[in-house]
Amino acid sequence: MSKLQKHFESNGQGHVFTFFDEITDSEQKHLLKQASDIDLEELSELVSSLVQNTGSKNETIADSLEPAEFTPRPESEGGNPSLWIEAREKGESALRAGRVAAFTVAGGQGTRLGYDGPKGTFGVTPVLKKSLFQVFAEKILASSLIFGRPVPWYILTSIINHDETVAFFAENNFFGLPEDKVHFFSQGLMPAVDANGKILMADKGQIALSPDGHGGALRALVRSGAIRQMEADGIDTISYFQVDNPLVRCIDPAFIGFHLMNNSELSSKMVPKAYPEEKVGVFCQANGQALVVEYSDLPERLAQERDENGEIRFRAGSIAIHIFDRNFVDRLGSGRDESAKLPFHLANKKVSFIDESGTIHEPDEPNAYKFEMFVFDALPFAANPVIIETDRADDFSPVKNASGIDSAETSAADQLRQFTRWAKEAGIGIETDETGLPSVTFEVSPLFGDTPGRFISAWEALEHKPELTDGLVLV
Ligand code: UD1
Repeated sequence: MSKLQKHFESNGQGHVFTFFDEITDSEQKHLLKQASDIDLEELSELVSSLVQNTGSKNETIADSLEPAEFTPRPESEGGNPSLWIEAREKGESALRAGRVAAFTVAGGQGTRLGYDGPKGTFGVTPVLKKSLFQVFAEKILASSLIFGRPVPWYILTSIINHDETVAFFAENNFFGLPEDKVHFFSQGLMPAVDANGKILMADKGQIALSPDGHGGALRALVRSGAIRQMEADGIDTISYFQVDNPLVRCIDPAFIGFHLMNNSELSSKMVPKAYPEEKVGVFCQANGQALVVEYSDLPERLAQERDENGEIRFRAGSIAIHIFDRNFVDRLGSGRDESAKLPFHLANKKVSFIDESGTIHEPDEPNAYKFEMFVFDALPFAANPVIIETDRADDFSPVKNASGIDSAETSAADQLRQFTRWAKEAGIGIETDETGLPSVTFEVSPLFGDTPGRFISAWEALEHKPELTDGLVLV
C-alpha cells in the first residue's frame, strides 16, 4: 500500500482505492493524481464544520447585518455628477497607461441554461446571435482601440470546458484580439462527499470532482502565473465579470476611476434589487466590514424588510462586477495571508456514484455535498472597498435560464432596448412600446459604438445612413 493510500485509509477515505487493483495502469496513475491533489485535512474540517453542522449560521450573521453604503449614480438622489466625471477621467488615464486587464469567470457548468457546451459559446445578440465570448471580445477590443493600449483578457475555465473554450477562440481567430493577449487557465477541483463525509467515486478509478467555485479564481490566478505576468506587463487593475452577462461594460472607465481614487483593493457595482426575491447577492455591512450575502443565505425576513420610504431595505444587489487590485489577488490567492482565506460554501446536489460493491447509482434526490468558494467573500478582507451604483439597463441582463426570467430572450430584448436608446439619442426616429422595445430587431457592434457618445459620433460619421429595418447590423 502506498503512502498516499495509507494517508487516505487513516482519514477514513480508504474506499477511494477499493478498485485500485482492477483498473488499468493509466487509470491508476490518474486516480493517484486526483487523490494527491486533495487536501484531506481541509476536507475533514469542511465536513465537520459544514456537512455535519448545518442550520444555525444564517441567523447569527443576520443579527449584525446592516445595508451597505454605496456611491449613487449621478442621476440618483444624492448623486454627484462632477465626482463621476473625475472618476471617468482617472479611469481613462489608467487605460491609456495600459494598467487594466479584463477577467472573466467561465468555469461553471451552466446547468440551469441546459446548454451543452461552454456557456461563453452560447449565442445571445438579437440579430447575429453572436456568442457571449464574441460580445466581450469586441467590447475589449473597442476599449483597446479607443485608449491605444491592448487590454489583456484572462479567462477562467475548468476541467469541464477548458479545451472546448480554447478551441472556440482558435476557430474564431480570437475575434480580432491579439492571440497573445488572451489567456486561459483552469480552476481547481474539490471532491464531492456523502452525508457522512465519504468521498464519492464517479467510477472505479475516478473521484467525483467538481470546480471549486469562482472563488477558486484567486488561487488559480496566482497558481497559473497570471498574476506574475500582469506584474511584468505593468497591470495592477483587474476588471472582473461573469460569463453570463452580455450587457456588462467589460471595461468601464468611471468604475476603474472610483476604484483607483479610493485606493481600493476590491470595488463592486450594485443595482437596486428589482423585487425582494431577486436571485442576486446583497451588499451588506457587519461589524464595520462590507460583505456580500448570497441570495440563498439572506434570511427571508431581511429580504422582505422595507425602509421608511417603502424601499427594499437590503436592496444593494450584487451583479458580480468587480475590480480587483492585483496585489490583493496575490495576497489572497497565494494563501500567504493566513488571516485572509475564502471560506467554502456547501451545495447539496445530485451526483452519480459507484458504491463499494461496484453498483452505479443515479440519484433522483440530492445525495452529495459539494464545496465552493465565492469570489465576493474576498470583500471583508479588502482595504477601502468601494461600491458604486450602476444602471441595470446598461450593465446587467444575464442569461441564466432556458426560458423566463434572465433567459436568452429577456437578455436579447435588453440589448435591443439599449441599442434603441442610443439610436434615439442620435436623433433616429424609432417606434417603441412602453418598455422601450422597438418594433424592428437590429444590432450594434461594440466596434461601431460601445457608449451613447461613441454611437452618436459613429452614426454622424456615416455617409449613407441606413434605414433601421429588421436585421440591420451596425458594424
Ligand atoms: C451569481 C452570484 C450572485 C450574483 C449573480 C449575478 C454566485 C454564487 N452568486 O449567482 O451573488 O448576484 O451571479 O448574476 O456567484 N463559475 C466559475 N466556476 C465555478 C462556478 C461558477 O467560473 O466553479 C462562474 C460561472 O461560469 C458564471 C459565474 O461564475 O460566470 C456565476 O455562477 P453561477 O453559479 O451561475 O451564479 P448565480 O447563481 O447565477
